[in-house]
Amino acid sequence: MVSTVRITIGNLKGGVAKTTTAMHLAAGLPGRVLLVDADPQASTALDWSTSAGDAWPDRIVVVPWPQADLARRVRAVADDYDHLVIDTGGEDDSILAAALMVADELVIPVAPSPLDLRRLPATFALAARVDAVSPVSARVLLVKVRRNTASARDSRALLEDMGLPVMESSVSLWEQYIQAFGALPVDLGEYADVLAELAAPDDAEQVAG
Ligand SMILES: Nc1ncnc2c1ncn2[C@@H]1O[C@H](COP(=O)(O)OP(=O)(O)OP(=O)(O)O)[C@@H](O)[C@H]1O
Ligand SMILES: [Mg+2]
Repeated sequence: MVSTVRITIGNLKGGVAKTTTAMHLAAGLPGRVLLVDADPQASTALDWSTSAGDAWPDRIVVVPWPQADLARRVRAVADDYDHLVIDTGGEDDSILAAALMVADELVIPVAPSPLDLRRLPATFALAARVDAVSPVSARVLLVKVRRNTASARDSRALLEDMGLPVMESSVSLWEQYIQAFGALPVDLGEYADVLAELAAPDDAEQVAG
């Protein structure tokens, strides 16, 4: 039995695997899942599910709500669902802020590249602003990790130096995740571990207010 998961996947930098992460996590959650596509640029989550056609399960409902009133919309229907996953776009502060108002946790996918890691504080700062109004914790999820490389080894140390919390589980740079588009992810790969960590009792660090 998994307690209710209410997560937003976001990073103010684009192209980091937010949608890939949102789709795998939504697929792995049991029961009724509301998956909000909150990307105003490209509704990739919606494209993904409609591409799956009839094979997409009714229990995972994908709605395109890439607007600032998405928190109100989510609250209006939340009772009908067991879990909530919100996929946001890059570089839109107001929509990410709205998504965090109805989430308990922000998962921030990022590749283990110093350039990308150094851009994380802007996303954490936004989460901290929302946290002051509506409690939300934020954690980094390392994705597109090439095992046994210097960047994979150094990234956790850099995050620790920056004082940013990071999930223990991480996601490799694998073809399987690229090929997952357009179908319900059946093999969750390493996202099974990510999900287990998210569903574990709440030991996530709170964002400093
Ligand atoms: N673990 C992975 N290994 C290899 N490729 C990946 C992995 N995760 C995602 N990708 C690929 O990286 C690209 C970006 O992924 P995705 O669309 O999920 O990112 P995004 O953060 O949602 O982007 P956007 O900001 O444009 O919405 C896609 O081509 C996707 O297939
Ligand atoms: Mg996306």
